[in-house]
Amino acid sequence: MPLREIKINAATMIYRVVIEPGSISGVGKALRLLFPSTKTLLVSDLNVDRIYGQEVVKSLEAEKWQVTTVVVRPGERAKSLKKAAHLYDSAIAAGLDRNSPVIALGGGVIGDLAGFIAATYLRGVPLVMVPTSLLAQVDSSVGGKVAVNHPRGKNLIGSIYPPRLVLIDPKVLTTLPFRQIKAGLAEVIKYGIIADGAFFAWLEKNIDRLLATNIEALTDAVTLSVMNKARVVEADEYEVDYRRVLNFGHTIGHALEAATDYSHYLHGEAVMVGMAVATRIAHKLDIIGSEDAARILNLLQRIDLKDAPADLTAEAVIDKLRQDKKRRNGEIFFVLPQSVGSASVIAVSDQKLIREAVKTGMRLEGL
Ligand code: NAD
Ligand code: GLY
Repeated sequence: MPLREIKINAATMIYRVVIEPGSISGVGKALRLLFPSTKTLLVSDLNVDRIYGQEVVKSLEAEKWQVTTVVVRPGERAKSLKKAAHLYDSAIAAGLDRNSPVIALGGGVIGDLAGFIAATYLRGVPLVMVPTSLLAQVDSSVGGKVAVNHPRGKNLIGSIYPPRLVLIDPKVLTTLPFRQIKAGLAEVIKYGIIADGAFFAWLEKNIDRLLATNIEALTDAVTLSVMNKARVVEADEYEVDYRRVLNFGHTIGHALEAATDYSHYLHGEAVMVGMAVATRIAHKLDIIGSEDAARILNLLQRIDLKDAPADLTAEAVIDKLRQDKKRRNGEIFFVLPQSVGSASVIAVSDQKLIREAVKTGMRLEGL
């Protein structure tokens, strides 16, 4: 399969996203071409390091890189200031200088954590993303958002700090747990709904191949997702306005995650439910027609999502919505689809409508 390359125009530089099955063994060479340094900090988690760590270190050492590896426990808790401090210690002990790249080898957690270190260590060193989860390949590795969490909330401390290179090997998705593949597909489908009707039609045709973890289909889906994300980020890198469409499904998604103590849903699963609820709201408000709304709900239902916990009430979700920062004067801001392929941010004040949409959409029932 040929190498695919997407160039992204960030405010501070142009960077490349390279999508190539098998490229994980070429990390060393790709970095050698870019950076005049000998030292690098490789950040990963235990799951990813166990499968791919050795291969990546070998490719780096073959190109004469001196590698310092930090491996953290998998999971969201690694995105902390405490873990960041540990990474700074490692970078200082290894003598990393301004030209020494930080490599994020892992899912979105590792990308956000290593990206935060790269953005702040020595006021910024080069960042290379080697994303290994579907969510990281189609979303978090592109666009420059890096962050750690605060006990009071997710991603409260961070920056927009674009990587110098994103190296995507879709083959690594063969070892990703199936539940993570399905959750990542939420973000893939999101691009089809908010920005690319032709991609959505392709997804309708190819959803079974994607669910079967067919690498050719996944490579196409990753490529088209990155192209869509690139278009949005290039138009509004600092999220002044348009980039907010990427939050489709997230208003309800975040409320669901919070209402279930971040322990029931994976992020993508909650976003998928959120997209169904937002589509219901848009349909009730006559913002989207019945045919397009039904197409969206049908595709989402094909993913066969984890159901909401039996004891989770719509009230509990609404309660979390009320605390959301996207709320103003009793209105809640939603990204609502207008058709398959376009969406915009709309304030909704009809509380009864929201409650009804949450009640039905939360169980992924039809229109
Ligand atoms: P994750 O990083 O926790 O990865 C999911 C799980 O899959 C982990 O257990 C990981 O060890 C494992 N894994 C990853 N790749 C693997 C592979 N190839 N084989 C086997 N196991 C593998 O979670 P995620 O879903 O990738 O990312 C979620 C994080 O991303 C959240 O912290 C979220 O806030 C952040 N995020 C950031 C952005 C952004 O723009 N920066 C966007 C969306 C989400
Ligand atoms: N994942 C949302 C964004 O990058 O803006």
